[in-house]
Amino acid sequence: MSARKKRPAMPGTTEDVAAMIRVDHAGEYGAVRIYKGQLAVLGNRKSPIVDAIRHMAEEEQKHLTAFDKLIVERQVRPTALEPVWRVAGFALGAVTALMGEKAAMACTAAVEDVIDEHYGEQITKLDGDPALKHDIEQFRADEIAHKNEALAQGAEDAPGYKLLSESIKAGCRLAIKLSERI
Ligand SMILES: [Fe+2]
Ligand SMILES: [Fe+2]
Repeated sequence: MSARKKRPAMPGTTEDVAAMIRVDHAGEYGAVRIYKGQLAVLGNRKSPIVDAIRHMAEEEQKHLTAFDKLIVERQVRPTALEPVWRVAGFALGAVTALMGEKAAMACTAAVEDVIDEHYGEQITKLDGDPALKHDIEQFRADEIAHKNEALAQGAEDAPGYKLLSESIKAGCRLAIKLSERI
């Protein structure tokens, strides 16, 4: 067998679905790294925002664990960009946290806005894969709750909110495009 031959996807896992699992796995990993970066800066503080970050980080870890399993069960090749997301996610978290707690929340609101849209699009394509659709619906509900919590905690009061938010969203959209393929 040629080493270059594509790994067979599990029956029922089309290339499209494999790409979805690959990008979602990468995204949840990136989310975990963002919160690690934020907690590296803010973890010693006691505040409602830091409590919120801790709670969000726990939920991202659950999402990641679920996609870790799916990657194995469905025999999906994980993204080759993991080392990039490892560093970029942590850096995004740390830098926004250094800008202040509200900027950390602005980061969450921006990321989750893109993920909400992204998961929403996937859900419309997953009628043929009810198990995965169900998981993604649940995760999407968590991400929307994160976004709403971040907004409630004053994300929009962060200095330079608009530019910060738009830059982070553009970065997330690029990361999604890349992780679907690479
Ligand atoms: Fe997540
Ligand atoms: Fe999230």
